[in-house]
Amino acid sequence: MSSILIKNAQIVAMDEKGTVDTGDVLIEGGVISRVGGTIDTEADKVIHAAGKVLLPGFVQTHIHLCQTLFRGRADDLELLDWLKQRIWPLEAAHDEESIYYSAMLGIGELLRSGTTTILDMETVHHTDAAFRAIEESGIRALSGKVMMDYGDEVPLPLRENTEQSLRDSVELLEKWHGRDNGRISYVFCPRFVVSCTEELLVGVRNLSQRYGVKVHTHASENIGEIALVERERGMRNVAYLDHIGLASPDLILVHCVWLDEAEKRIIRERGVKVTHCPGSNMKLASGVAEVPDLLGRHIHVGLGSDGAPCNNTLDMFSEMRLAALAQKTLHGPTVMNARQVLRMATMGGAEVLGLEKEIGSIEEGKKGDLILLELDEFHAYPSFQADPYSRIVYSAGYSDVDTVMVNGKLLMENKSLLTINKRNVL
Ligand code: GUN
Ligand code: FE
Repeated sequence: MSSILIKNAQIVAMDEKGTVDTGDVLIEGGVISRVGGTIDTEADKVIHAAGKVLLPGFVQTHIHLCQTLFRGRADDLELLDWLKQRIWPLEAAHDEESIYYSAMLGIGELLRSGTTTILDMETVHHTDAAFRAIEESGIRALSGKVMMDYGDEVPLPLRENTEQSLRDSVELLEKWHGRDNGRISYVFCPRFVVSCTEELLVGVRNLSQRYGVKVHTHASENIGEIALVERERGMRNVAYLDHIGLASPDLILVHCVWLDEAEKRIIRERGVKVTHCPGSNMKLASGVAEVPDLLGRHIHVGLGSDGAPCNNTLDMFSEMRLAALAQKTLHGPTVMNARQVLRMATMGGAEVLGLEKEIGSIEEGKKGDLILLELDEFHAYPSFQADPYSRIVYSAGYSDVDTVMVNGKLLMENKSLLTINKRNVL
């Protein structure tokens, strides 16, 4: 059983007690076996982390690895025009090789910025290649092919036959779900109500229940999208998904910028999960989600960067900052503190994915999904000591991450990626 001993780190555990302490952490067989104090034991590898900050790896609950190569393609358009004019033609042009590179480049960027778990949505075709990149890179991921069988404006190569969409999804699920001791999972990804027939959504509900896998979809992101759903289905997004029987603890709704009271009640009562993508919501001029209100209702909320073209970075530090600043601008300085924001990026994400017993905090028995940050503290009164959460959320960044591990396996050390290199991305 391989082991890693991390010595003298400043541990920000993100546990319920809010532990922030200097000490050692032992990871054995991929699992955190001891936290805190001085641990004197032999280990296969010892990391001397004095002065470094040890955090649980970030959990991003919405990204599109297939869109990494489309970075920069979102200027001055809002959601529906952006999808029709930019994203769908590009997704239709993908081939197996371009999906693989898009996924590998995206994962490289995610790991370098400290993300160890992702909930990903691919395009209609070639999702197998994205899973290969996930498998080789070592990142923890839930992913699935996107499903779209409706809408005149969906380009023909992407508009699926309903049965085929369900069959292709099940084929991928049977191949990839549970791989590498559960590091890789399948999720059903009907894109959004706008591009799905009721028959497809009912099929997804039945398969999700049969296989016990989650459903990941966009909802209530943009006023035009909501109006289209109301016009065509006679209901708002969340009520419609509930009418189909999809509203359950296994449903993850991405964006939720514009929810009415009835929708918030359905989400709360059915245990539906929410993902907040502040950068994407700003770049596509969708709006600002009412995150403090959702958290106040005890709804589980995670954070995601969405695809690269939505905000041009997959960096969780940037996403945390945008999440915090947007709320301060609207509701004042105390509406959501830095610890709550960091919690969304770690434990909150774990709860959204139903993995709260496995990842999201540094506690004995959890997976060894950890990152080390090297924060320069030149001043005699270091800001980390004064307020670790504020220091991390407002003034740490991408280039401060120096070590990343998933399941106790090192994926980045001394700022060098170990599983992704020129051989697999060029
Ligand atoms: N809604 C449906 N598809 C998409 C997508 O690819 N990105 C975003 N941001 N919203 C969507
Ligand atoms: Fe998205």
